Amino acid sequence: MTRIVRLCGRDAVEDDRLNVVEVEGTPIAVYRAGGTYRATQGTCPHRGLPLDGAPVLSGMVVCPNHFWRFDADTGSVIWPATGHDLPHFPVTVGETELFVQLDGATGDTDCSGNGGGSGVGGSGDGSGGGETA
Ligand code: FES
Repeated sequence: MTRIVRLCGRDAVEDDRLNVVEVEGTPIAVYRAGGTYRATQGTCPHRGLPLDGAPVLSGMVVCPNHFWRFDADTGSVIWPATGHDLPHFPVTVGETELFVQLDGATGDTDCSGNGGGSGVGGSGDGSGGGETA
C-alpha cells in the first residue's frame, strides 16, 4: 500500500541546498534543483552523517563531510565509483506543501558493510494519515 505523508511547506525549501526535516522519525533531506522538488534520505550513505546544508553544485549533491557526490536528480553515486546511491523518495507537490512517499525510495538502500545505513522506509501500517494513490 502506498503511503504518502506531509514533508514540509514549499516555502521551507531552498534552491540547491539540502534541508533535513524529520518525517515520522525518519530524517529526509529536501531541496529544489532545476526547479524540481526532490527528497532524499537525510543521511549520507557513506558514514550515515547528516546531509543538512549540503549544496547542489553542477547538478550534484555534495556531501559536506567527505565530499561524496550524487546525481541531484536520481541519487546515483558519481564519486567515488564504489560508493552507494543516495535513495530518493517520490515527491508530490501541493499548493503550499510537499508530500513524500516514504515507502517508495529508489536507489541502493543496502549500505551494509559501508558504515552507513539507509535509515529509510516506513512502517507501512498506514498510520499517520496522508494520501494514498
Ligand atoms: S559521510 Fe558523506 S561522504 Fe562521508
